[in-house]
Amino acid sequence: MLKHLLYRGYTNGLKVAASVVPFPKPTLFSGSGSVNELCQAIADLGFTRLLLVTDVGLVDLGVADQVKENAQALGLNVFMFSDVKPDPTYDQIESGLSAYLDAQCDAILALGGGSAMDCAKVIAARVTNKRPIKKLAGLFRVWRTPAPLFVIPTTSGTGSEVTIAAVVSDPVTHLKTPLIDPKLVPMMAALDANLLISLPAKVTADTGIDALTHAVEAYISRNATQETQAYSIAAIKLIFKYLPLAVGQGSDVEARHKMAMASYYAGMAFTKASLGYVHAFAHSLGAKYGLPHGMANGLALLPVLRFSLPEIEPQLKTLSEALCADDETDASAEDFISKLDVLYQAVGIEQTTSALNGSDTQELVGLILKEAHWNYPVPKFMNEVECAQLLAKIRT
Ligand SMILES: [Fe+2]
Repeated sequence: MLKHLLYRGYTNGLKVAASVVPFPKPTLFSGSGSVNELCQAIADLGFTRLLLVTDVGLVDLGVADQVKENAQALGLNVFMFSDVKPDPTYDQIESGLSAYLDAQCDAILALGGGSAMDCAKVIAARVTNKRPIKKLAGLFRVWRTPAPLFVIPTTSGTGSEVTIAAVVSDPVTHLKTPLIDPKLVPMMAALDANLLISLPAKVTADTGIDALTHAVEAYISRNATQETQAYSIAAIKLIFKYLPLAVGQGSDVEARHKMAMASYYAGMAFTKASLGYVHAFAHSLGAKYGLPHGMANGLALLPVLRFSLPEIEPQLKTLSEALCADDETDASAEDFISKLDVLYQAVGIEQTTSALNGSDTQELVGLILKEAHWNYPVPKFMNEVECAQLLAKIRT
């Protein structure tokens, strides 16, 4: 079909771009005490006035003050911007920009999950790019190097600490707008498991499934490379082993650390190999019904993988083999889906939801296919009828 050739041409172009455009990696500090190491590095680099971009939940838990005090003890002036809400909107970013300019900051430190990191990325971009956010959205439109950005993730899923993307929402339409540019990669990141142990079990499960979806969609992407597939497999193995532990025993520091690394590896995979239909479903369901991103990914992942067979059979077989115990020798694509099913049950992820309204199907189909076909190198194209059938499978 001509349309499919156009989509393929566009996503092939993205693969070429990913192979020639340099993708920076953040300098990584990991393990207990890495937040202090990051703060010390910021001070050593000569920055003196930090905007701490975070949310009120982390302020209430005392985590934001703890980080602020650590940074202040190293001589840094810290100005708190704690107005980040889930799915940050343009107006939140403009408020953060005003806070940065009013305090005459010279760098930004993001503390939080994907919303805080994405909000901070776009504030940093706006500091140096005097154009409205809408004009920064899309591919390679952040022309000037953003303000220096440092991040401390407090969830293990988004991968935003390493990716070239930031997703922000239009406050009127609630549609999510991605900004995609290598200049958005933070300079440095600290993965400190001590900040993750208070994450509730449900959020741990949802964000872990988001990381898993990043790794799987990157693995089956037509733009995957040997390098991105290695990162995907590393992430998937860690998630299968440690997500149930992190959900069941939140204070397990080793499990928390491994999940932080898994999220980072999955981010390394998808920032180059891109994503697929599962994320197109998740973004549309999130925008329409406010479903948490990881939960929405969980709803769509298995049906999309089943739909994508037999095209992705070799890839799923390899993933299944990677998860085999030493005494197992044979594994199939269907085995991998069965293993996902078992993981879902272990961490309490739902495969259907009552949130979907059947009368919204046509609108959702349009949003999903538009996002997927013009952005993601999907291994098998889905038509409108197939997309509607898949929505029906996840609706109770
Ligand atoms: Fe995601």
